[in-house]
Amino acid sequence: MSKPIYVLNGPNLNLLGVREPEIYGHTTLEDIKARCETLAASKNTSVVFRQTNHEGQLIDWVQEARTEASFLIINPAGYTHTSVALLDALKALSIPVIECHLSNPHAREPFRRHSYVSQAAKAVVAGFGAIGYELAIDAGLRLLDQ
Ligand code: DQA
Repeated sequence: MSKPIYVLNGPNLNLLGVREPEIYGHTTLEDIKARCETLAASKNTSVVFRQTNHEGQLIDWVQEARTEASFLIINPAGYTHTSVALLDALKALSIPVIECHLSNPHAREPFRRHSYVSQAAKAVVAGFGAIGYELAIDAGLRLLDQ
C-alpha cells in the first residue's frame, strides 16, 4: 500500500458542528474523518487524520509528513493567517500540500484574505464545507497520478 495521506487540522476545528454552524456547518470533525477514511479506502490508500489546538504540535506533524505522507492536506484554521513558522515547516516538504478551508476566507473579514500557508501550497480548496476534504483527497490522488 502507498504512504498515507496526512490530513492535519488546526485550532478550534475540534468544535466543528457546534462552532459558528452558520459558517462551518453542522458536520463534526469525527464525521469528516470517517468520510475521508472511507474515500481513501475506496482508492486503496489510507489517511492519518489529526487535529490540534497547538501551533508547535501542528509543525511537528508537518515535519513528520515530510517523510511519512504521500501528500498533505492541511486546514491550518486561524494559523493560516498568522504563522510564519508553519509556512517555514511546509516549505521543507517536497510532497504536494493542499490547503483546505471549510469556508471561503476571501468572502469574510479582510484579515482572512491573507494566507501565509498558500505560499507553500500546490492548491487551495475553500468554501465547499465538509466535502472540501473529500475533494482535496480526490484531487491530490489525481495530482500524484499525473
Ligand atoms: C478556516 C478559516 C479560517 O479563517 C478560520 O480561522 C478557521 C477555519 C476554515 O476552514 O474555513 O478556523 O480555516
